[in-house]
Amino acid sequence: TRIEKAGYKHFMAKEVAEQPVVIADALKHYVKGGALNLPEGLDFSTVDRLSMVACGTASYATAVAKYWFEQLAHLPCDVDIASEFRYREPPLSTKGWAMFVSQSGETADTLAALRHAKEQVAKVVAVVNVPTSSIARESDLALPILAGVEVGVASTKAFTCQLTVLFLMALKAGLDRGRLTPAQVADHLSALNTLPGLMNHAMGLSAEIAGIAEKLAEAQDILFLGRGPMFPLAMEGALKLKEISYIHAEGYASGELKHGPIALIDNRVPVIVLAPRDALFEKTVSNMQEVMARHGKVLLISDAQGVAEAGKGCWKTVTLPAVAPILAPILYSVPAQLLAYHTAIAKGTDVDQPRNLAKSVTVE
Ligand code: G6P
Repeated sequence: TRIEKAGYKHFMAKEVAEQPVVIADALKHYVKGGALNLPEGLDFSTVDRLSMVACGTASYATAVAKYWFEQLAHLPCDVDIASEFRYREPPLSTKGWAMFVSQSGETADTLAALRHAKEQVAKVVAVVNVPTSSIARESDLALPILAGVEVGVASTKAFTCQLTVLFLMALKAGLDRGRLTPAQVADHLSALNTLPGLMNHAMGLSAEIAGIAEKLAEAQDILFLGRGPMFPLAMEGALKLKEISYIHAEGYASGELKHGPIALIDNRVPVIVLAPRDALFEKTVSNMQEVMARHGKVLLISDAQGVAEAGKGCWKTVTLPAVAPILAPILYSVPAQLLAYHTAIAKGTDVDQPRNLAKSVTVE
């Protein structure tokens, strides 16, 4: 079947807007009667190490998931980009699992990494959007993310669906390893069920974000800051912006700012702070104030309480609905995507087919 833009100007806009629906679909598939409904073979009880490998946006999904697997399941976790994993020859555990995350399931580096790991670990698991892909076929167990066809080169709905499936797997690991009770898992699942609605709400901020993006389009360099699982999201936000607006951007851990990147700050550098009101909020705010003291232009993205507490003196603020902090990377993906999208529109670049990039890179 031919995929159409369905009234949207770009596939990317359509795919961003589809996220509440496809995430709800994935939840319907993997959650039944308020409990996890994951494939039989997904039993983490004897796994001693999880090695996650991917490229590009998918690798940032694994970097977020590392926080989840460690926090929820106390499972030692490595994340690697495929082109490094393959040739570094990391020692793998025969009781460990290797997990490969890929939208297309055809990325050459990721596939080569899978083949390299296969004989060395207890199980090879794939998290893919294309269930018939090479990566799905060559793994012991493949979980589809059910995002539907993604056409825009910049990955959006595949990223949030990857995160959703990885979160469910981390819950399963927590259960299997005796770190979470079924009641705790049920609580996380009900929080997860609120996400599609919260994402719809975030989508409603598109016009406001477009106004901010017009100003961002004038910047040469943009920094994204985040802490905890929001740190990899900061890197994904920066990647999205680079890919389609061609503005140089970097994602940094908030606490690392003072160890280098703060030297870049002046009144021409927008700094986008992804800061849900979580346990580390105060620390992130103090990093943000260091930026403001050096005349950096801060865009604070937080919830109403966070904006009320820390919004004063910021260049701009965006207020999202409150969300369980552990799930914030999924919700905060929406403003990160919309910022990149509207900045690209303001610059007049080719949003769906950015220069020099391919949707799927099948050569090493
Ligand atoms: C390409 C795309 C990226 C994508 C990466 C990994 O570089 O431009 O958007 O994140 O490949 O693709 P995969 O299909 O393995 O997720």
